[in-house]
Formats: sequence, structure tokens, C-alpha cells
Amino acid sequence: MKLLFATKNLNKANEIKDILPKQIQIITLKDIGLEEDIPETSKTIRGNALQKVNFIKNHFKINCFAEDSGLEIDSLNGEPGVDSAIYAGKHRDDNDNINLVLKKLKSKANRKAQFKTIIALKINENIFEFEGVVNGTILLNRRGKNGFGYDSIFEPENCCKTFAEMNIHEKNYYSHRSKAANKMITFLEKTINLSNT
Ligand code: IMP
Repeated sequence: MKLLFATKNLNKANEIKDILPKQIQIITLKDIGLEEDIPETSKTIRGNALQKVNFIKNHFKINCFAEDSGLEIDSLNGEPGVDSAIYAGKHRDDNDNINLVLKKLKSKANRKAQFKTIIALKINENIFEFEGVVNGTILLNRRGKNGFGYDSIFEPENCCKTFAEMNIHEKNYYSHRSKAANKMITFLEKTINLSNT
């Protein structure tokens, strides 16, 4: 089965490719010639995932999935949340976003946070949603060089490495994205005969 993954984020695409069974092949936005950004104007992570998947289906008429993710920090009332990519401004700079989080948490004792992913899958006219959450802690300083976004300051529960200190397989053992993606894979395996699609 071929499915379009509606993202331009290569890190996200590589993480998901790492866990997909060989019967599911991912097509990228590049493969369909889409260069413009897909609108993401919702106030929620779920709303953005739905907006992206509907945009692709309406314009290209192909089955696809999209995901939206964010970091929710308890003592910042769930910020940056849906604004994770633009927390420090529309220039979307991971480094600036991290600096802002660390600054806002400076006087806070509670550094608990969660990453959340919602995947929206559109098959024909039906939409299916899958959520993945990972709880963890925001560190005082960056650790590790891998990954993207807030990976270097997030350490998942029951682990002693940040996401940025892990390779993709290790991150996929814990991550919000792999939890949501694994739910989607189980769904596809149960409901669709992958060898005939
Ligand atoms: P979007 O889902 O592409 O709108 O972006 C969400 C933003 O959340 C990213 O730009 C990152 O800053 C952050 N984010 C989402 N998932 C992850 C992750 O797995 N690691 C680190 N940061 C992430």
C-alpha cells in the first residue's frame, strides 16, 4: 500500500519510516510536486493534523496521513503546545524556542512535560485519528546532538537520555510519534488487506 505522509520535516519522515512494515510505502510531498506549505492555522494540535490531511485529500485526491505534534509543559499551562514550532517567533528557530523554554522555566520547580502527536489518516472519505503521548522532564541544559526541535532538553520518564542522545530506534521506543504511528499501523493491518492495496 502506498500512503502519502504530508510533511516536509525529514526527521519526522525518517522516524516514521523506521517503524513502518514493508507493505506500507511512504510517498512524500516532493513526489507529488507540492512545494508550498500546507496551512496550519488551527488552535489545536488535533485541528492542525485534520487541516493538513484534508488539504492534501481535497487538492490531490489521494489517501494520506498527516501528523501534528507539540510539547506541553505543566508549569507553563501547556505551552508551547500547538505553537511549539513558532514559540520564539515565526522564524521557526529550534535554538531560540529552546532558549525561551529554559528562560520561562528558570524559577519553576515543576519541570514535567509531555510530547503529544495526533496522526490523522484519510482513506477515501473516512478520517481516523491516533494519539501518542510521552511524559518526561525538561532538563536545565541541552544534552545530545541528534533529532530536532526540543529533543535536546526532553528526557522521557524511566530513561536517562534525552531524545537528542538517542538514535532513531531508541527514540522510537519511547516517543509520542511512534506511539501514534504504531496505533495507525495496527489499524491498517487489521482493517486493510495490505497485500492487495
Ligand atoms: P509541527 O508538528 O510540524 O507543527 O511542529 C511541531 C513542533 O514541535 C516542531 O517544530 C518541534 O519544535 C516540536 N516537536 C514536535 N515533535 C518533536 C519531537 O519529536 N522532538 C522535538 N521537538 C518536537
